Amino acid sequence: MTSIFNDDYSIHFQEQVYTELNAHVAIQQPSTIFVLVDENTMAHCYPYFIARLETTARIEVIEIDAGETYKTIDTCVGVWSALVELGCDRNSLLINLGGGVITDLGGFIGSTIKRGIPFIHVPTSLLAMVDAAIGGKNGVDLGNLKNQIGVINTPIMTLIDVTFLKTMSHRELVNGSIEMFKHGLIADRAYWEDMKENVDYTSTTFAHLVYQSVLIKNEIASSDPLENGARKALNYGHTIGHAIESYCMAHDEEPELLHGEAVAAGILIESFLSMHICGLSQEAYDNIKAWYVGLDLNLSFSLDAITTMLELMKHDKKNVNGEIRFVLLERIGQFKVDVTASEALVRRAFEEL
Ligand SMILES: NC(=O)c1ccc[n+]([C@@H]2O[C@H](COP(=O)([O-])OP(=O)(O)OC[C@H]3O[C@@H](n4cnc5c(N)ncnc54)[C@H](O)[C@@H]3O)[C@@H](O)[C@H]2O)c1
Ligand SMILES: [Zn+2]
Repeated sequence: MTSIFNDDYSIHFQEQVYTELNAHVAIQQPSTIFVLVDENTMAHCYPYFIARLETTARIEVIEIDAGETYKTIDTCVGVWSALVELGCDRNSLLINLGGGVITDLGGFIGSTIKRGIPFIHVPTSLLAMVDAAIGGKNGVDLGNLKNQIGVINTPIMTLIDVTFLKTMSHRELVNGSIEMFKHGLIADRAYWEDMKENVDYTSTTFAHLVYQSVLIKNEIASSDPLENGARKALNYGHTIGHAIESYCMAHDEEPELLHGEAVAAGILIESFLSMHICGLSQEAYDNIKAWYVGLDLNLSFSLDAITTMLELMKHDKKNVNGEIRFVLLERIGQFKVDVTASEALVRRAFEEL
């Protein structure tokens, strides 16, 4: 697993992680090292991490409450204040040790405190390893609106050690794996097949599947940092997925879904659209459907629910003139952006659930 060197930041894996971290600390000689954690990563990840960090610098831990509800400006105000009180200066180093909430929020903090200090991402959830900590998007939510406030700015390095995954629940691991399957669908058929056959979170080969996923996400994100073209492909399954996610969040009678679970349903529906609009083969579609069924999510929505979700999608800022735009697949590993679908077909696709 060779390190990835982009123009602006590097990504290191497994045994390289602590060598690179300690080498950076030795060169920077930070005045203070701040480690941002939530209560779960404090309990499960911090002890392991800190035992491997070699430094004589002062270390301060800042802990926030876990969960998406705390990915807010209010939390930022608390962290900014703590940093200032603890003497943060421009030669401090911020290490974001946690899932996507910590890396998104911590990246924003690192980019803004004192007009920006060096920061490093150490993702500890599968979703953060293969998605949130790669590509330089940082930010927080504004009320119910996700990721409305933020900056694009890369860390010094992202450090990926799958050892952290041992304490994640199976449901959270599956949640992260959905983005890995998505990477295969949009960019690499062989990887999709490999994931389908070999995904086993406890095996030593799992680190390689994570590595390949990072390569795909990094390649797409670095070729299109501002999301004008190729990066839209990363939204595969997400147009429908976001609508399902928002709908379920707003309706107590619906199941509480994790992001990846909603996206998995989105992937199935958008694959049906791909088959009808972009020439995705029936065989490929059946293959994707078999994967979805294997996830055992058992989602289904009433006609009224589908109508509400269609309205939500029409108002999405990415759409033009009320037409819903999708990223679709021409075949597994090959995507097409800005495809529109008729409302009738989207309704039919929902029935596939
Ligand atoms: N910036 C991007 O490009 C990007 C991409 C995808 C997702 N995201 C963001 O990522 C966030 C979701 O990430 P997430 O699923 O990691 O959420 P999260 O950070 O809330 O982590 C999920 C849960 O797992 C816990 N956890 C993390 N690591 C653990 C470990 N090793 N052992 C035990 N528990 C652990 C956390 O405390 C939390 O309770 C969302 O806010 C989303 O918007 C950002
Ligand atoms: Zn996603």
